[in-house]
Amino acid sequence: MKSLVIYYTRDGHTEKSARVIAKEIKADVLKIEEEADRKGLMGYLKAGWDAIKEKEVTLVDSKEDISGYDVILFGAPIWGWKPAPAIITHIDTLDLSKKKIVNFVMMGSSCGKSLDIMMDHVKKSGGNVIDSISIKTNRVKESDYLHEARMFAAKVKTKF
Ligand SMILES: Cc1cc2nc3c(=O)[nH]c(=O)nc-3n(C[C@H](O)[C@H](O)[C@H](O)COP(=O)(O)O)c2cc1C
Repeated sequence: MKSLVIYYTRDGHTEKSARVIAKEIKADVLKIEEEADRKGLMGYLKAGWDAIKEKEVTLVDSKEDISGYDVILFGAPIWGWKPAPAIITHIDTLDLSKKKIVNFVMMGSSCGKSLDIMMDHVKKSGGNVIDSISIKTNRVKESDYLHEARMFAAKVKTKF
């Protein structure tokens, strides 16, 4: 089974977790970036607004061909109780038919219905979600949330 972790990050938590997960399951890694600047107060406010409104955003083009992968893991931060819009925009561009999908989100403390939202978009792109997790990062030591990510990856790879 060939696996790929696709993630978006603003502040690095999802990136660190994506790398830990990829190492555990021996996956390749693809970072999604968007054109909008999400830094600073205005970037923060606009990020929350775009996520709450489930806006389609403009991505920096990623040319990765995913056709050779059997399993794809999508990782995203939570903004305004929704997945960061970059990951949803990216999922919507992909053909995920015949692929096993795993979703993971990094959150301060609460992700609302984000995993359901991601699952809906994955289904519309033809994929089959086999597992998902939300991982808290607020007031959690980095080593602890990365441990949670690693344990999740160890569990999930038994389903491939
Ligand atoms: C604009 C914005 C909105 C956020 N909204 C939420 C939220 O609704 N619920 C939550 O638990 N955390 C929220 N957070 C916290 C992030 O989800 C959390 O810090 C996550 O670990 C960030 O991932 P990253 O470091 O990969 O960007 C928000 C962060 C930002 C920047």
